[in-house]
Parts: sequence; C-alpha cells; structure tokens
Amino acid sequence: MNIVLLGAPGAGKGTQAAKLVEARGLAHISTGDIFRAAVTAGTPLGLEAKRFMDAGELVPDAVVIGIVQERLSEPDCAVGFILDGFPRTVPQADALTKALASMGKKLDHVISIDVDRAALIKRLTARRQCRSCGRIYNVLTSRPKHFNVCDDCGGEVFLRDDDSVGTVTNRLDVYDRNTAPLIDYYRKAGLLRSIDGDRPADEVFADILAAVRA
Ligand code: AP5
Ligand code: MG
Ligand code: ZN
Repeated sequence: MNIVLLGAPGAGKGTQAAKLVEARGLAHISTGDIFRAAVTAGTPLGLEAKRFMDAGELVPDAVVIGIVQERLSEPDCAVGFILDGFPRTVPQADALTKALASMGKKLDHVISIDVDRAALIKRLTARRQCRSCGRIYNVLTSRPKHFNVCDDCGGEVFLRDDDSVGTVTNRLDVYDRNTAPLIDYYRKAGLLRSIDGDRPADEVFADILAAVRA
C-alpha cells in the first residue's frame, strides 16, 4: 500500500507515520528527516538544504524530486511506502505521479491531517526529536523519561532549528501558499481522505487505519 500523508507543519505526519510503520511495516520516507540527516552529516546536500530549512522555505523542487525518486527505487519500498512531507508543491505531485507510473506503481491513499493554526504553533514550539532515531517527543504531552535522552536509543533529544516561533509562522504561510492546493489536487484525483487531527494521536491513528482499509 502506497500512502501520502499531507498536512501542515505540526499536523502529526511524523507521529502517525511511525504508528503506520509499526502496524503495517511500510517504508517511511520523510523528506524533512532525509534533509536533517544530510545537515548533520555535513554533506553538500545538507549545506544546500539548511539555508532553506532554517528560513522555513521549501528546498527547490528539482533537488527534492531527485532524492525521492532515488529513495522510491530502494528495495524496502517494494512492500509499500508512506511519504511524509512530500509532495509539497504541484510540480512535486506531478513528478511523483510520473515516477510511480514509470515503476508500474500508483498511490492508494492521500491522507490529509487537519489541525488549526493555533494548535500547530503550540505543538511545534513544544516538539523535541531524537537526533539518532528520529523519535518525536513533546515537552507538554510526551516527554522522554530522562531529560533530553531518547527512551528508545539513548540519543540526544533536541529542538529543531526551524521550530522557533518566527520560523514556524513562515512555515505555516509557505504551507498555505504552496502545499494546501494539493488537497484539491488529490480530491479531484479521488484519492483524498481528510482526518480531524486535533484529537489524541491514537484516535487520529484509528481513523487513518479505517480510511486506508476502506
Ligand atoms: P518537515 O520535516 O517535513 O517538517 P514539516 O512539514 O514542517 O512538518 P513537521 O515535521 O514539523 O510536522 P509533523 O506533521 O511531522 O508533526 P509531528 O508528528 O512531528 O520539513 C522540514 C523542512 O524541510 C521544510 O520546511 C523544508 O525546508 C524542507 N522540506 C521537507 N520536505 C520538503 C519538500 N517535499 N519540498 C521542499 N522542501 C522540503 O508532530 C508535531 C508535534 O505535535 C510533536 O511534538 C508531537 O508529539 C505532537 N503531536 C502529534 N500528534 C499530536 C496529537 N494528535 N495531539 C497532540 N500532539 C500531537
Ligand atoms: Mg515531521
Ligand atoms: Zn532515539
């Protein structure tokens, strides 16, 4: 099963993707996580991506599309995948349709996780993430047992550079301008399932499971 998780920054794409991976064994492709790993490793891709990410702007389509195409051809994607944070623009969505067609694949579901702006800002400024395994925490609702140490792998739990209030506001504006049009795009394609994301994560997940079974 091939799924796209669509939603504003902080909607819970990463949180729900982790649950789907556990329940369904799908490959998790988070373009944001790919870029953050490249930044940490100090690769040329990381250096290029960092200046866009720190400003809350999108990395250029040509860069992102190339990376996702490569990733989709890796063996673990054969059983199905979850795209988290991609596509984010209409050209990315068009490129995805083409890339999948050339591999004899297609999307089965596009899940839009909907959360209002005030809740998103609150979530993002309270989010923390493990630098090693990517597990997502929140200082208000789901802290690690030991301060800034990941429960799963002992890695450092950190605040993302782009989770400051100023950058978050710009990321939300960029989402409204560039990514929200994909909701209509996928509705017209008959693939969209909208989920109310402003509820406990397990309730949101139950609805996602029901939507992908339907
Ligand atoms: P990316 O890493 O994709 O960030 P994003 O889209 O801004 O989304 P987030 O990861 O911030 O939020 P999320 O929906 O995953 O929420 P989470 O589950 O963590 O992208 C970062 C940057 O990379 C972009 O700005 C851009 O520069 C670049 N980039 C990436 N992809 C790109 C692309 N395709 N094209 C161009 N550029 C690209 O949850 C957030 C918090 O809320 C957590 O603390 C969590 O614990 C909490 N939470 C989750 N669910 C719930 C719930 N139901 N109730 C209460 N709290 C909850
Ligand atoms: Mg995420
Ligand atoms: Zn960890």
